[in-house]
Amino acid sequence: MVGIQARKKVWLDGRIVDWPDAKVHVLTHGLHYGYAIFEGIRSFRTERGPAVFRLDDHLERFLNSAKVYRMRIPYSQEELRQATLELLRQDGAEEVYLRPIAFSGYGQMGLDPTSAPIQVAIGLWEWGAYLGDEGQGRGIRATISSWVRNDSRSIPPQAKCAANYANSILAKLEANAGGFDEAILLNSAGMVSEGPAENIFRVKGGIVGTPPASSGILRGITRDTIIQLVQENGLTFRRGDFTREELFTSDELFFTGTAAGVSLIREVDGRPIGTGEYPVARRLQELYSDVVHGRSGAHPEWLSYVGGA
Ligand SMILES: Cc1ncc(COP(=O)(O)O)c(C=O)c1O
Repeated sequence: MVGIQARKKVWLDGRIVDWPDAKVHVLTHGLHYGYAIFEGIRSFRTERGPAVFRLDDHLERFLNSAKVYRMRIPYSQEELRQATLELLRQDGAEEVYLRPIAFSGYGQMGLDPTSAPIQVAIGLWEWGAYLGDEGQGRGIRATISSWVRNDSRSIPPQAKCAANYANSILAKLEANAGGFDEAILLNSAGMVSEGPAENIFRVKGGIVGTPPASSGILRGITRDTIIQLVQENGLTFRRGDFTREELFTSDELFFTGTAAGVSLIREVDGRPIGTGEYPVARRLQELYSDVVHGRSGAHPEWLSYVGGA
């Protein structure tokens, strides 16, 4: 899936260290119980040098995830923002995926993490589109998972905690074992929720729709970006639940995510979606690519330039 190619630097607990030195002990608490919260962010090449897309929104979500889990992060949002930009400068990276993570460290076992130290790291690596060229091109093949999306009464999906991804991994493994590229998870009410690491959109009769936050999704920053681009570019948007049948009868279906970008879904459980032409989704792919690379002039506030403003 993704073979990580070593880069130069990692930010770890307040300092930038060389890549091979960014290590933890095997008895790290968070490794055993999934008490870790994280983010996935991307930097892109622009005419003004590399820039991080919606850095503040990602860091805000990071701190909110920590809050849900009563995890005290020993750095402010501004400190994490500066750390991210300084890491990019020292590593020399341009177009990379960034992974801030906070987790309960070494020194405590048992479920109560409150006396374990909280460690914070930011890693980065080069990562192409998560669902590969097919997602960007003719579309991937998806299946509806037999695993139900965890809901906020069990493991809250709006907090990006490592433990959520046990549910996602089960769905992903099942999809891959069945010969599909990706899963679509329904929630406990049987309505469409999201992919294992992506939000989902459908286009029907010219209306672009996506399930609401209450459907058991992570409130994606790419999802929010796409909603704004839809509204600003003369398309009609509607937030609302939809069923499995409505997936099959969509004109277009696509996933969104920092890792996946805007990835087309060409079939669901063997049923081809629409005509396969995807005019709306392809336009949104272009609008998204323009905004993240600073080409369109739209939303300059979404880009944090590594070299400064
Ligand atoms: C479960 C889940 N849903 C949706 C998304 C998309 O969110 P974003 O667009 O903020 O990357 C992600 C990725 O972080 C995810 O893990």
